[in-house]
Amino acid sequence: MPFDRRIRIAPSILSADFADFGREIRAVEDQGADWVHVDVMDGHFVPNLTFGPPAVAAFRRHVTTVMDVHLMIAPVDPWIEAYAKAGADILTAHVEAGPHIHRTLQAIRGAGMKAGVALNPGTPAEAVAHLLDLADLVCVMTVNPGFGGQKFIDMSGKVRALRVMIGDRPIHIEIDGGMDPATAPLMAAAGADVLVAGSAVFRGGSVADPAPYGANIRAIRAAAEAAV
Ligand code: DX5
Ligand code: ZN
Repeated sequence: MPFDRRIRIAPSILSADFADFGREIRAVEDQGADWVHVDVMDGHFVPNLTFGPPAVAAFRRHVTTVMDVHLMIAPVDPWIEAYAKAGADILTAHVEAGPHIHRTLQAIRGAGMKAGVALNPGTPAEAVAHLLDLADLVCVMTVNPGFGGQKFIDMSGKVRALRVMIGDRPIHIEIDGGMDPATAPLMAAAGADVLVAGSAVFRGGSVADPAPYGANIRAIRAAAEAAV
């Protein structure tokens, strides 16, 4: 089966109501989310703190699509098994999180998950050149990781370079940070296929009134698809 590079929208629950994750996850899935993006922060690799394996295991019970777990933590390796047990489908580690990213990606796949590698805005595409055969996803950060709602940093050149480096390999290019109907087309045109969006999906809606989530998802998807 050919690798499916259609546009996927992955709402980040960093922008959800933290007291109501189960219903928030079900609401964005009902409203058309392709994946659910889970931002794990440790207050050390990034200057913010979110949740760990027990919370992620609890989210799993509500996710029926794909649970895409983005680790903004260092070190990564001691935690891989815990996130596999928590039910992550995709586990993404930052190339900047330590000197042994190659080993980390092997361990993620070894634990039965798809392996993602993330690049901060200041890190060049070449940082993953020797990792592509170990990766199922490359995440290009278009903000400095740590917080939702930040201003988009244009990484079109990096995405284009990655698209060429990846060639025919079955690897997703995911964009994370500042995705909305104005910025998503730039990234889709450059070759991205998975668009993470937090504030631009959750704005205007709630579990009591989830229709705006659907309208927001459709607006981002339509803008991105029109650019491909
Ligand atoms: C940032 C996180 C993102 C964040 C995106 O560190 O990795 O996933 O939730 O939020 P928005 O879409 O609001 O920029
Ligand atoms: Zn993220």
